[in-house]
Amino acid sequence: MSNYFINNGANKGMLIVAAVATALSFSQCTPKQTATVSSVPNTTPQADISKGLKDYFNDDFLMGVAVSSRSIRTDSALIIKEFNSVTAENDMKVGIIHPAENRYNWKNADDIVAFAERHHIKIRGHNLLWHKQGADWMFVGPDGKPASKELVLQRLRDHIHTVVGRYKGKMYVWDVVNEAIDDGPDSTVMYRESSPWWTTFKSPEFIEAAFRYAHEADPSAKLYYNEFNSERPVKREKIFKLLKKLKADHVPIDGVGFQAHWTVDRPNAEQIRKALDEVISLGLEVQFTELDITVHTKPAEITPGKPLVDPGYTPEVEAKQIAKYKMVFDIFRQYRKHIKAVTFWNVSDRGSWLDSRGGGSAGDPIPSPPVFLKAYPLLFDVNNQRKKAYWAVVNN
Ligand code: G3I
Repeated sequence: MSNYFINNGANKGMLIVAAVATALSFSQCTPKQTATVSSVPNTTPQADISKGLKDYFNDDFLMGVAVSSRSIRTDSALIIKEFNSVTAENDMKVGIIHPAENRYNWKNADDIVAFAERHHIKIRGHNLLWHKQGADWMFVGPDGKPASKELVLQRLRDHIHTVVGRYKGKMYVWDVVNEAIDDGPDSTVMYRESSPWWTTFKSPEFIEAAFRYAHEADPSAKLYYNEFNSERPVKREKIFKLLKKLKADHVPIDGVGFQAHWTVDRPNAEQIRKALDEVISLGLEVQFTELDITVHTKPAEITPGKPLVDPGYTPEVEAKQIAKYKMVFDIFRQYRKHIKAVTFWNVSDRGSWLDSRGGGSAGDPIPSPPVFLKAYPLLFDVNNQRKKAYWAVVNN
């Protein structure tokens, strides 16, 4: 609002009168309400058109976005203006960058790194070990049978040294291990046991090894454990246990990535704060690594043969999304000392990974065949324009 006044001197008097009138009518209608003005989202666009998200949050944390070798061409102007950190959405994942033992696909990852360097944008590395988009060959021995633990460890070390080594000094963070904790409600099942990493090791040895290899390969990069649904109480405690163990074993871990694939309904503020407090209590830093807030609160019920009707970005879901974005950024600002970056997962509502999930978010079952239902989860609309939620986040 202050910029608006500064840049519109002629209208200044009128705006002040309007603001006072609004404040008066608000207090008269709701005499007992003690809510402060800042609890109401302010979606008024700011007048300074030179600023992007990275400038509004300059004193708080980096603002990031997940990109592909395509989006750095099609959406380059928006990315350069709004963000000062990027993550490769897919192009650095093991199965994509290292599809066979003696073959690496550097092209897309190199293009993203070159783009970021050219525009002085920082780069997060994503990721070095995951149960998805991995390299199946890592788990197969020379005889075609499951590879031994020793062979898998040697391959993991070679992979990490080669990839982290190639980009040494260029990545400020690596997501070293992604989603190794079980996502189910049973608190006694700690690790994701269906993962080929677990099947091979039957212990968290691979997690510790990955962090040690990454530290050897680039001692200056910050090393993160990255996870989704981290605010849900049962999973939160499993993650906390793992982090405590890594710290006790002197594993070189610097931080925790909260993916933050959220919906307009969940998680609540208390859950986010509790998860943050636990991680911070261990002396770890934090990033929100994959933020999006889908307008769907649960997967759609799909009836075979019946087309799914998409209600679209209705005023009701828009209002809920604005309120949610404001709530989470209010918390982010309060924890700014510990939060190093907030990264959105995809550029705009034109294309989100969520759109093909039939209304589901991370951890929800994906309908088969895939069902298309737009999620509208980001701060830029289908035309790459700033949404009201953008201003609710920016205006403090
Ligand atoms: O590479 C093939 C391409 O050759 C083919 O033409 C195309 C046709 O569908 O598919 C391409 O692969 C897709 C790949 O993204 C690259 O676009 C896969 O089908 C698709 O499943 C894959 O989805 C990615 C997903 O991870 C895989 O689980 C999403 O784009 C990506 O946003 C998502 O990112 C993950 C984070 O890394 C970790 N946290 C969860 C997050 C969302 O699942």
